[in-house]
Amino acid sequence: MNRVPPGGLTGGDQDRIEALLKSMTWDEKLAQMQIVFRADPAELRRWVRAGVGAIFWPRSAAAVNALQRVAVEQTRLGIPLLVGLDVIHGQRTIAPTPLAMAASFDPDMVQDTARLAAAEAASGGVTWTFSPMIDVSRDPRWGRAVESFGEDPYLNAVMGAAVIRGYQGDDLRAPTSIAATAKHFVGYGHAEGGRDYNTADMSEHRLRNVYLEPFRAATAAGAAAVMAAFNTIGGKPMHAHRRLLTQVLKDEWGLRGVIVGDADGVGNLVPHGVAVDLLDAVQQSVRAGLDIEIGGSLTDDAGHALLTAEQLPVDRVDDAVRRILSLKARLGLFDQPYVPEDEEITEPTRRARAEVRAAAVRSAVLLKNDGTLPVTLHGRVLLTGPYATSTDHLGAWTQPFAAPAGSIAQELASRYPDVAFTVHQGAGFYDDDPADLPAVAAAAAGHDLVLVFAGEPSSLSGEAASRSDLRLPGRQEELIRAVAGTGIPFAVVLINGRPLVTSGWIDTAPAVLEAWHLGTEAPAAIVDLLTGAAEPAGRLPISFPRGTGQIPVYYSHENTGRPATVRGTMRQEAVDVGLVGPGAVAGKYTSKYLDLELGPQFDFGHGSGYTTFRYVNARLSPGRLPLAALGRGEQVRVSVEVSNTGGRDGDEVVQLYVRDLVSSVARPVRRLIGFARRHIGIGQTATVSFKVGTEQLGFWDAEADPARFVVEPGTFALYLGGDLHATHELPFEVV
Ligand code: NOJ
Repeated sequence: MNRVPPGGLTGGDQDRIEALLKSMTWDEKLAQMQIVFRADPAELRRWVRAGVGAIFWPRSAAAVNALQRVAVEQTRLGIPLLVGLDVIHGQRTIAPTPLAMAASFDPDMVQDTARLAAAEAASGGVTWTFSPMIDVSRDPRWGRAVESFGEDPYLNAVMGAAVIRGYQGDDLRAPTSIAATAKHFVGYGHAEGGRDYNTADMSEHRLRNVYLEPFRAATAAGAAAVMAAFNTIGGKPMHAHRRLLTQVLKDEWGLRGVIVGDADGVGNLVPHGVAVDLLDAVQQSVRAGLDIEIGGSLTDDAGHALLTAEQLPVDRVDDAVRRILSLKARLGLFDQPYVPEDEEITEPTRRARAEVRAAAVRSAVLLKNDGTLPVTLHGRVLLTGPYATSTDHLGAWTQPFAAPAGSIAQELASRYPDVAFTVHQGAGFYDDDPADLPAVAAAAAGHDLVLVFAGEPSSLSGEAASRSDLRLPGRQEELIRAVAGTGIPFAVVLINGRPLVTSGWIDTAPAVLEAWHLGTEAPAAIVDLLTGAAEPAGRLPISFPRGTGQIPVYYSHENTGRPATVRGTMRQEAVDVGLVGPGAVAGKYTSKYLDLELGPQFDFGHGSGYTTFRYVNARLSPGRLPLAALGRGEQVRVSVEVSNTGGRDGDEVVQLYVRDLVSSVARPVRRLIGFARRHIGIGQTATVSFKVGTEQLGFWDAEADPARFVVEPGTFALYLGGDLHATHELPFEVV
């Protein structure tokens, strides 16, 4: 078998594609440019017979082979099908949600879980997944934050590229590889009010420096496809955004793969009010650069084109079809369209289970701990909260055939048969679920320990699952306060898709473990973490707000002209209204809320573990570099020694941030430019180093046309440490 780099085609492939293109009719070309969606089996067969280019996964290797046989043997040109599916964080064996995995700060692990998902999906005939989602997500009201890698462009870029490498491998033709789709291009995470599908207007400065960056990285990583987003930018729906789809993605960045529409995204141009009807919408989208749409709007189910060659530019159609055929060739589908049916993976293997369990452990974040965790289980332990017995651990975007998880109560009972567990749910997920808080408080009395398993069910995050109030739903806050009132030692485990507002109870809880939705092996991993069989070492990939009214709150904000350093109070400010100058209360005219502490409840990068680390000898060399040297690729080496000073082996996530102190435009107060997760044994020291050059110091000058990536001379501060408030500040100068 030829080894073909992702994005690469052999000479033979190219000849085949050109020959096919020459022989294709207009109808056949347009038929290739669509993915059939929402068709029953009989309709699907009809569409395939009519030459459609792609289908959604028909649910088994045998069903895929049957349809591929129709495409290959019963259509004039015998072009095989692309078989797409949303394989988001696992096919059968479910890994943690993407947001949870971002917390691992471990791109190798993320790559491995994507590889596992690819192998399982490919064995069933899936050739193409609509993942990774790399929408920078700074508004946790947006339910889809769970599908992203959080609020930071760099973390999204690194994790997105890792997922792409995992799905696509070194060779898309391998039987364990599938094509990846970077989505949603672009700005979808910036939906106004955090309401799904909403307008996402923004400046070119923000677009270039924040939202486009992960997609630039995904394109460089060889993503086979990019999916257009549902939102508008500057009033233009992304499905019709020629400048961004064609000029930026294809021309400027050189995307060689396909641009795919989102489900009905083309048709949505009509309610957006920019197209009169579906055919108008298709024309606008294809002209803008879309290569393949989801819906079946270019032909009818007999394969007859709905648009003429006068309505769609022939060159554009040829370019789209060439990209689609190239993807099929890169996947090796012309040579091997079928999958061995007896090798389809339908159940998790032991190895797969072990892998997602390890990933789950690495994704959890210890939000606070006074030493209550890890617990030694003995005597009588009360388990409460809806997640004590719920098996809803898979998280948003899993398919019905995914391997289910068990419950934490079952896991504890089977692993600790000598401990007397009492289960008292106390409160459910919803306001109208029955709650018996006094009974829980009374029951707690005879127990040595209470473990509260609280959270959000999977259905409250994901697509079309925005929330306006991010507190624990139902009466769970009251439950935690009731448990706190008993004075019995307790810990809270949070199981949720997105950041929650915890201010109503967080101060009452001695220890809180953020366990997200950790997938098929969630209960085993959670018990490992609670008991200290495993170490929590994840770090938050997204800020946890103090209140919903504070959103968006994210670490990498620009400084205002009046940054706040102290909190104001309503009373004080009311008294001093109108005072400016000498009599003014310090900090009055600064950027803050009168009724909220400054900053989020838990910062990006926050998290602790069961051991402690000390940072010494932070160094940077050289301390200054001429612009020209940076331009030639010279870099600064930044290093630090990290010692494990606690009583257990553990992992530390070393974080490197930068601030450009004076620049022609306002730059973020901190910007993550490097991280490394290291395992360090008790008493051991690891030296961790990073290279910093143009890519890390520069930014997109959006005033230039086209935008240019620039480094401006001046002073930069580099911050190195175990969290956002890393104390090691290293000045660096570009001269
Ligand atoms: C709509 C979602 O926005 C997108 O992410 C997904 O891939 C498609 N539906 C297909 O299921």
